[in-house]
Amino acid sequence: MSKPREVTEMLTELREVREAALRELEGLSDLEALDGWRVAYLGKKGKVTQLVRSVGKLPREERPEFGKEANRVKGELEAAYEARLEDLRREALARSAEKRRLDVSLPGRPQRVGGLHLVTQTLHQIYTIFAQMGFQIVEGPEVERDRYNFELLNMPPDHPARDMWDTIYIAPPYCPEKEMLLRTHTSPVQIRAMEAMEPPIRVIAPGRCYRYEAVDASHEWMFYQVEGLAVGEGITMADLKGVLTSFTQQMFGMDRKVRFRCDYFPFVEPGVDMSMDCIVCGGKGCRVCKHTGWLEILGAGMVHPNVLAGVNIDPEKYTGFAFGMGPERIAMLQHGIDDIRLFYSNDLRFLRQFN
Ligand code: FA5
Repeated sequence: MSKPREVTEMLTELREVREAALRELEGLSDLEALDGWRVAYLGKKGKVTQLVRSVGKLPREERPEFGKEANRVKGELEAAYEARLEDLRREALARSAEKRRLDVSLPGRPQRVGGLHLVTQTLHQIYTIFAQMGFQIVEGPEVERDRYNFELLNMPPDHPARDMWDTIYIAPPYCPEKEMLLRTHTSPVQIRAMEAMEPPIRVIAPGRCYRYEAVDASHEWMFYQVEGLAVGEGITMADLKGVLTSFTQQMFGMDRKVRFRCDYFPFVEPGVDMSMDCIVCGGKGCRVCKHTGWLEILGAGMVHPNVLAGVNIDPEKYTGFAFGMGPERIAMLQHGIDDIRLFYSNDLRFLRQFN
Protein backbone atom coordinates (compact mmCIF):
# COMPACT_ATOMS: atom_id res chain seq x y z
CA MET A 1 0.00 0.00 0.00
CA SER A 2 1.48 3.26 -1.12
CA LYS A 3 1.74 6.05 1.34
CA PRO A 4 -0.63 9.00 0.97
CA ARG A 5 0.81 11.52 -1.40
CA GLU A 6 1.17 14.30 1.08
CA VAL A 7 3.49 12.33 3.32
CA THR A 8 5.59 11.17 0.41
CA GLU A 9 5.88 14.71 -0.79
CA MET A 10 6.81 15.98 2.59
CA LEU A 11 9.44 13.31 3.11
CA THR A 12 10.87 14.12 -0.30
CA GLU A 13 10.95 17.78 0.53
CA LEU A 14 12.60 16.99 3.84
CA ARG A 15 15.29 14.96 2.06
CA GLU A 16 15.87 17.71 -0.49
CA VAL A 17 16.10 20.37 2.19
CA ARG A 18 18.54 18.21 4.15
CA GLU A 19 20.76 17.64 1.14
CA ALA A 20 20.72 21.29 0.10
CA ALA A 21 21.49 22.34 3.66
CA LEU A 22 24.47 19.97 4.00
CA ARG A 23 25.81 21.00 0.57
CA GLU A 24 25.57 24.70 1.43
CA LEU A 25 27.11 24.15 4.83
CA GLU A 26 30.11 22.51 3.23
CA GLY A 27 30.76 25.61 1.08
CA LEU A 28 30.54 28.20 3.89
CA SER A 29 33.79 29.97 4.66
CA ASP A 30 32.99 32.53 7.36
CA LEU A 31 31.06 32.85 10.58
CA GLU A 32 28.66 35.45 9.24
CA ALA A 33 27.56 33.21 6.37
CA LEU A 34 27.20 30.32 8.82
CA ASP A 35 24.83 32.36 10.91
CA GLY A 36 22.80 33.15 7.78
CA TRP A 37 22.61 29.40 7.12
CA ARG A 38 21.43 28.74 10.66
CA VAL A 39 18.65 31.30 10.34
CA ALA A 40 17.62 29.94 6.90
CA TYR A 41 17.31 26.31 8.05
CA LEU A 42 17.08 26.13 11.81
CA GLY A 43 15.82 29.63 12.73
CA LYS A 44 12.24 30.32 13.84
CA LYS A 45 11.10 30.62 10.25
CA GLY A 46 13.79 28.33 8.86
CA LYS A 47 12.94 25.61 6.33
CA VAL A 48 13.53 22.67 8.67
CA THR A 49 11.65 24.31 11.54
CA GLN A 50 8.68 24.89 9.20
CA LEU A 51 8.74 21.27 8.06
CA VAL A 52 8.83 20.00 11.63
CA ARG A 53 5.87 22.22 12.46
CA SER A 54 3.88 21.07 9.41
CA VAL A 55 3.51 17.62 10.94
CA GLY A 56 0.14 18.79 12.23
CA LYS A 57 -1.18 18.95 8.70
CA LEU A 58 -0.84 15.17 8.21
CA PRO A 59 -3.48 12.64 9.14
CA ARG A 60 -2.98 11.60 12.71
CA GLU A 61 -1.69 8.05 11.97
CA GLU A 62 1.05 9.36 9.70
CA ARG A 63 2.37 11.97 11.99
CA PRO A 64 4.77 9.74 14.04
CA GLU A 65 6.72 8.53 11.01
CA PHE A 66 7.19 12.00 9.56
CA GLY A 67 7.71 13.62 12.93
CA LYS A 68 10.44 11.14 13.80
CA GLU A 69 12.23 11.68 10.49
CA ALA A 70 11.86 15.47 10.66
CA ASN A 71 13.33 15.58 14.20
CA ARG A 72 16.19 13.30 13.14
CA VAL A 73 17.04 15.62 10.24
CA LYS A 74 16.78 18.64 12.52
CA GLY A 75 19.15 17.01 15.05
CA GLU A 76 21.54 16.00 12.29
CA LEU A 77 21.65 19.53 10.89
CA GLU A 78 22.11 21.05 14.35
CA ALA A 79 25.08 18.77 14.97
CA ALA A 80 26.51 19.60 11.55
CA TYR A 81 26.07 23.30 12.33
CA GLU A 82 27.93 22.97 15.65
CA ALA A 83 30.78 21.09 14.02
CA ARG A 84 31.11 23.67 11.23
CA LEU A 85 30.96 26.51 13.76
CA GLU A 86 33.84 24.96 15.65
CA ASP A 87 35.87 24.54 12.43
CA LEU A 88 35.28 28.12 11.29
CA ARG A 89 36.17 29.54 14.69
CA ARG A 90 39.40 27.61 14.74
CA GLU A 91 40.24 28.83 11.25
CA ALA A 92 39.49 32.48 12.19
CA LEU A 93 41.69 32.21 15.25
CA ALA A 94 44.52 30.73 13.24
CA ARG A 95 44.22 33.52 10.67
CA SER A 96 44.35 36.27 13.31
CA ALA A 97 47.27 34.59 15.09
CA GLU A 98 49.07 34.51 11.76
CA LYS A 99 48.43 38.24 11.31
CA ARG A 100 49.69 39.17 14.79
CA ARG A 101 52.51 36.75 14.81
CA LEU A 102 54.89 37.18 17.77
CA ASP A 103 58.59 37.09 17.30
CA VAL A 104 59.58 35.72 20.69
CA SER A 105 63.25 36.24 19.91
CA LEU A 106 62.83 40.07 19.87
CA PRO A 107 64.29 41.82 22.94
CA GLY A 108 61.60 42.86 25.45
CA ARG A 109 60.48 46.47 25.80
CA PRO A 110 62.12 47.96 28.89
CA GLN A 111 59.77 49.01 31.67
CA ARG A 112 60.08 52.75 32.25
CA VAL A 113 60.69 53.29 35.93
CA GLY A 114 60.50 56.66 37.62
CA GLY A 115 63.48 58.31 39.21
CA LEU A 116 64.27 61.00 41.70
CA HIS A 117 64.20 64.60 40.48
CA LEU A 118 67.66 66.11 40.22
CA VAL A 119 66.89 68.61 43.00
CA THR A 120 65.82 65.73 45.28
CA GLN A 121 69.06 63.92 44.49
CA THR A 122 71.05 67.07 45.32
CA LEU A 123 69.12 67.47 48.57
CA HIS A 124 69.95 63.88 49.50
CA GLN A 125 73.65 64.57 48.90
CA ILE A 126 73.44 67.66 51.12
CA TYR A 127 71.63 65.72 53.87
CA THR A 128 74.27 62.98 53.83
CA ILE A 129 77.16 65.42 54.20
CA PHE A 130 75.57 67.36 57.06
CA ALA A 131 74.33 64.18 58.77
CA GLN A 132 77.96 63.05 58.98
CA MET A 133 78.72 66.31 60.80
CA GLY A 134 75.91 65.69 63.29
CA PHE A 135 73.16 67.90 61.83
CA GLN A 136 69.58 66.63 62.03
CA ILE A 137 66.82 67.53 59.57
CA VAL A 138 63.91 69.72 60.68
CA GLU A 139 61.06 71.18 58.68
CA GLY A 140 58.74 74.15 58.91
CA PRO A 141 55.63 75.47 57.14
CA GLU A 142 55.74 77.02 53.68
CA VAL A 143 52.83 79.32 54.55
CA GLU A 144 54.45 81.31 57.29
CA ARG A 145 53.68 84.07 59.74
CA ASP A 146 55.33 87.48 59.31
CA ARG A 147 56.66 87.04 62.84
CA TYR A 148 58.81 84.07 61.85
CA ASN A 149 59.79 85.12 58.34
CA PHE A 150 60.83 88.63 59.44
CA GLU A 151 60.19 89.88 62.96
CA LEU A 152 62.02 87.26 64.99
CA LEU A 153 64.79 87.39 62.41
CA ASN A 154 65.57 90.90 63.60
CA MET A 155 63.37 92.65 61.03
CA PRO A 156 60.57 94.49 62.82
CA PRO A 157 57.70 95.92 60.73
CA ASP A 158 58.90 98.61 58.32
CA HIS A 159 62.52 97.46 58.60
CA PRO A 160 64.08 98.36 55.21
CA ALA A 161 65.88 94.99 54.99
CA ARG A 162 62.50 93.36 54.33
CA ASP A 163 62.88 94.73 50.81
CA MET A 164 65.73 92.25 50.23
CA TRP A 165 63.02 89.63 49.69
CA ASP A 166 60.16 90.21 47.25
CA THR A 167 57.43 88.70 49.34
CA ILE A 168 54.16 87.08 48.31
CA TYR A 169 51.66 88.03 51.03
CA ILE A 170 48.43 86.12 51.44
CA ALA A 171 45.40 86.57 53.62
CA PRO A 172 43.65 83.23 54.08
CA PRO A 173 40.01 83.88 55.03
CA TYR A 174 40.18 81.52 58.03
CA CYS A 175 43.26 83.19 59.47
CA PRO A 176 42.87 85.87 62.14
CA GLU A 177 46.41 87.07 61.52
CA LYS A 178 46.64 89.61 58.72
CA GLU A 179 50.27 89.14 57.82
CA MET A 180 50.55 85.64 56.42
CA LEU A 181 52.98 85.02 53.61
CA LEU A 182 54.72 82.35 51.54
CA ARG A 183 58.09 82.08 53.23
CA THR A 184 60.82 83.83 51.26
CA HIS A 185 63.58 81.73 52.81
CA THR A 186 64.02 78.79 55.18
CA SER A 187 65.42 81.01 57.94
CA PRO A 188 62.08 81.02 59.85
CA VAL A 189 62.75 77.33 60.58
CA GLN A 190 65.83 78.45 62.59
CA ILE A 191 63.47 80.29 64.89
CA ARG A 192 61.06 77.37 65.16
CA ALA A 193 63.96 75.01 65.91
CA MET A 194 65.35 77.30 68.63
CA GLU A 195 61.88 77.61 70.18
CA ALA A 196 61.49 73.84 70.23
CA MET A 197 64.98 72.73 71.28
CA GLU A 198 67.57 73.48 73.92
CA PRO A 199 71.19 74.18 72.89
CA PRO A 200 73.32 72.49 71.74
CA ILE A 201 71.39 72.60 68.47
CA ARG A 202 72.61 71.36 65.09
CA VAL A 203 69.97 71.29 62.39
CA ILE A 204 69.47 71.70 58.68
CA ALA A 205 66.08 72.80 57.34
CA PRO A 206 65.33 72.03 53.71
CA GLY A 207 62.20 73.22 51.93
CA ARG A 208 60.49 75.30 49.29
CA CYS A 209 60.60 79.09 49.28
CA TYR A 210 58.65 81.59 47.22
CA ARG A 211 59.51 85.05 45.96
CA TYR A 212 57.78 87.55 43.77
CA GLU A 213 60.72 87.37 41.34
CA ALA A 214 61.25 88.44 37.78
CA VAL A 215 62.03 84.88 36.63
CA ASP A 216 65.22 84.49 34.59
CA ALA A 217 67.96 81.93 33.97
CA SER A 218 69.10 82.03 37.60
CA HIS A 219 65.92 83.09 39.45
CA GLU A 220 62.76 81.07 39.95
CA TRP A 221 59.69 82.24 41.87
CA MET A 222 59.62 78.87 43.66
CA PHE A 223 62.88 77.20 44.65
CA TYR A 224 64.45 75.20 47.45
CA GLN A 225 66.74 76.33 50.19
CA VAL A 226 68.63 74.41 52.83
CA GLU A 227 69.07 76.35 56.02
CA GLY A 228 71.68 75.35 58.57
CA LEU A 229 71.93 76.30 62.23
CA ALA A 230 74.32 75.43 65.04
CA VAL A 231 73.89 76.94 68.51
CA GLY A 232 75.94 76.07 71.57
CA GLU A 233 78.56 77.29 73.98
CA GLY A 234 81.77 78.58 72.45
CA ILE A 235 80.76 78.30 68.78
CA THR A 236 82.85 80.70 66.69
CA MET A 237 83.33 81.90 63.15
CA ALA A 238 86.05 79.23 62.82
CA ASP A 239 83.35 76.53 63.23
CA LEU A 240 81.28 78.20 60.53
CA LYS A 241 84.23 78.28 58.16
CA GLY A 242 85.26 74.71 58.95
CA VAL A 243 81.80 73.22 58.45
CA LEU A 244 81.10 75.12 55.23
CA THR A 245 84.54 74.47 53.73
CA SER A 246 84.18 70.77 54.46
CA PHE A 247 80.69 70.77 52.92
CA THR A 248 81.91 72.51 49.74
CA GLN A 249 84.83 70.14 49.30
CA GLN A 250 82.67 67.04 49.83
CA MET A 251 80.13 68.36 47.36
CA PHE A 252 82.44 69.70 44.65
CA GLY A 253 85.86 68.09 45.16
CA MET A 254 88.57 68.14 47.80
CA ASP A 255 90.74 70.65 45.91
CA ARG A 256 88.08 73.39 45.94
CA LYS A 257 89.07 76.71 47.50
CA VAL A 258 86.50 78.82 49.34
CA ARG A 259 86.27 82.54 49.93
CA PHE A 260 84.30 84.36 52.63
CA ARG A 261 83.36 87.99 52.12
CA CYS A 262 81.31 90.35 54.26
CA ASP A 263 77.63 90.45 53.43
CA TYR A 264 74.56 91.79 55.14
CA PHE A 265 71.69 89.74 56.54
CA PRO A 266 69.80 91.30 59.48
CA PHE A 267 69.70 88.02 61.43
CA VAL A 268 73.48 87.45 61.53
CA GLU A 269 76.41 89.52 62.70
CA PRO A 270 78.90 89.36 61.11
CA GLY A 271 77.33 88.15 57.86
CA VAL A 272 79.21 86.59 54.96
CA ASP A 273 78.74 85.17 51.52
CA MET A 274 80.74 82.12 50.66
CA SER A 275 82.06 81.44 47.16
CA MET A 276 84.27 78.69 45.76
CA ASP A 277 86.79 78.89 42.94
CA CYS A 278 85.08 78.29 39.60
CA ILE A 279 84.81 74.57 38.80
CA VAL A 280 84.89 75.28 35.08
CA CYS A 281 87.97 77.48 34.76
CA GLY A 282 89.67 76.74 38.10
CA GLY A 283 89.56 80.43 39.03
CA LYS A 284 91.07 81.89 35.87
CA GLY A 285 87.79 83.50 34.78
CA CYS A 286 85.20 82.29 32.29
CA ARG A 287 81.58 82.76 31.18
CA VAL A 288 80.21 80.60 34.01
CA CYS A 289 81.86 82.67 36.77
CA LYS A 290 81.26 85.88 34.85
CA HIS A 291 85.05 86.27 34.60
CA THR A 292 85.46 86.66 38.36
CA GLY A 293 86.97 83.23 39.02
CA TRP A 294 84.47 82.69 41.87
CA LEU A 295 81.01 81.13 42.19
CA GLU A 296 78.69 82.17 45.01
CA ILE A 297 77.38 79.21 47.00
CA LEU A 298 75.57 80.53 50.07
CA GLY A 299 74.91 83.24 52.63
CA ALA A 300 75.91 82.72 56.26
CA GLY A 301 76.94 84.39 59.51
CA MET A 302 77.00 84.29 63.28
CA VAL A 303 73.47 84.29 64.73
CA HIS A 304 72.61 87.83 65.80
CA PRO A 305 72.30 88.27 69.61
CA ASN A 306 68.86 89.85 69.11
CA VAL A 307 67.67 86.65 67.38
CA LEU A 308 68.92 84.47 70.25
CA ALA A 309 67.34 86.77 72.83
CA GLY A 310 64.06 86.74 70.87
CA VAL A 311 63.72 82.98 71.44
CA ASN A 312 64.95 83.15 75.06
CA ILE A 313 68.43 81.81 74.45
CA ASP A 314 70.96 83.76 76.49
CA PRO A 315 73.33 85.47 73.99
CA GLU A 316 75.89 85.96 76.79
CA LYS A 317 76.14 82.20 77.21
CA TYR A 318 75.44 80.83 73.74
CA THR A 319 76.61 81.69 70.25
CA GLY A 320 75.83 80.09 66.91
CA PHE A 321 76.17 80.21 63.17
CA ALA A 322 73.61 79.92 60.41
CA PHE A 323 73.71 79.55 56.65
CA GLY A 324 71.33 79.26 53.72
CA MET A 325 71.99 77.76 50.30
CA GLY A 326 70.02 77.06 47.11
CA PRO A 327 70.18 73.41 45.95
CA GLU A 328 69.08 74.30 42.39
CA ARG A 329 72.10 76.56 42.03
CA ILE A 330 74.33 73.83 43.46
CA ALA A 331 72.92 71.26 41.01
CA MET A 332 73.43 73.76 38.16
CA LEU A 333 77.10 74.07 39.06
CA GLN A 334 77.58 70.33 39.48
CA HIS A 335 75.96 69.42 36.16
CA GLY A 336 76.68 72.46 34.00
CA ILE A 337 73.00 73.46 33.72
CA ASP A 338 72.67 77.02 32.46
CA ASP A 339 68.98 77.73 33.10
CA ILE A 340 67.17 77.23 36.42
CA ARG A 341 63.79 77.18 34.64
CA LEU A 342 64.57 73.71 33.28
CA PHE A 343 64.05 72.18 36.74
CA TYR A 344 60.34 72.84 37.03
CA SER A 345 59.12 73.03 33.45
CA ASN A 346 58.61 69.24 33.46
CA ASP A 347 60.36 68.46 30.21
CA LEU A 348 61.14 64.76 30.62
CA ARG A 349 63.93 64.98 28.04
CA PHE A 350 65.78 67.19 30.53
CA LEU A 351 64.80 65.34 33.71
CA ARG A 352 65.60 61.83 32.39
CA GLN A 353 69.22 62.76 31.81
CA PHE A 354 69.78 62.51 35.54
CA ASN A 355 68.15 59.11 36.15
C1 FA5 B 1 68.72 84.15 52.21
O1 FA5 B 1 67.61 83.79 51.81
C2 FA5 B 1 69.15 83.98 53.64
N1 FA5 B 1 68.04 83.52 54.42
C3 FA5 B 1 70.32 83.04 53.72
C4 FA5 B 1 71.00 83.04 55.04
C5 FA5 B 1 70.64 82.12 56.00
C6 FA5 B 1 71.97 83.99 55.34
C7 FA5 B 1 71.24 82.12 57.23
C8 FA5 B 1 72.58 84.01 56.56
C9 FA5 B 1 72.22 83.08 57.53
P1 FA5 B 1 69.54 84.82 49.83
O2 FA5 B 1 68.38 85.67 49.50
O3 FA5 B 1 70.86 85.26 49.34
O4 FA5 B 1 69.67 84.61 51.39
O5 FA5 B 1 69.25 83.34 49.31
C10 FA5 B 1 70.08 82.26 49.65
C11 FA5 B 1 70.25 81.32 48.46
O6 FA5 B 1 68.97 80.95 47.94
C12 FA5 B 1 70.93 81.98 47.27
O7 FA5 B 1 72.34 81.89 47.39
C13 FA5 B 1 70.43 81.15 46.11
O8 FA5 B 1 71.18 79.95 45.99
C14 FA5 B 1 69.04 80.79 46.55
N2 FA5 B 1 68.07 81.68 45.90
C15 FA5 B 1 67.70 82.91 46.28
N3 FA5 B 1 66.77 83.43 45.44
C16 FA5 B 1 66.57 82.50 44.49
C17 FA5 B 1 65.73 82.41 43.33
N4 FA5 B 1 64.89 83.37 43.00
N5 FA5 B 1 65.78 81.30 42.59
C18 FA5 B 1 66.59 80.28 42.93
N6 FA5 B 1 67.41 80.29 43.99
C19 FA5 B 1 67.40 81.38 44.78
